[in-house]
Amino acid sequence: MQTPRRRTETLTAAQPLAPPLWSLNDVIPKSCTVFAVQADGGEVRTVEGLEQGGELHPIQQAFTEKHGLQCGFCTPGMMMTGAALLERNPDPDEAEVRRAISGNLCRCTGYVNIVESVRHAAEAMRGS
Ligand code: FES
Repeated sequence: MQTPRRRTETLTAAQPLAPPLWSLNDVIPKSCTVFAVQADGGEVRTVEGLEQGGELHPIQQAFTEKHGLQCGFCTPGMMMTGAALLERNPDPDEAEVRRAISGNLCRCTGYVNIVESVRHAAEAMRGS
C-alpha cells in the first residue's frame, strides 16, 4: 500500500496548524510550506476541483453522509488526503486511513467519523 507522499510528516510546536489544502504534482504538501512560485508550471488540485460536472466526489459525498466534519477547518485537507490515498489504495483499512491523515489535525471530531468517511468513499468508489 502506498500512502500519499508528503513533503513534511510532522508538525512542530512552532508550526501553525496548516492543513494540506491542495496537491501539487500529486504530492500533498502542507500549504504553509510551499511558496506560490514553487507551484509555477505544476498541476495544482484543490478540494473545489474534486467536484466534477456538478457531482460531488465520493469523498465529499461520504463526508456529508458520515458526518466527517464539524467546524470544517480541517476538512479540505482531510478530503484531499483521503482522495489521494484512495487513488493509491482503493481498499484501505482503518490503520492505513489513520496513517494517511496523520499530518492533518482535527480539533473537533475525534477522527472516528473522518476515518469512516474515507472508508465509506472507498466502498462507493469500488461500487460495493
Ligand atoms: S472539523 Fe473542526 S478541526 Fe476538524
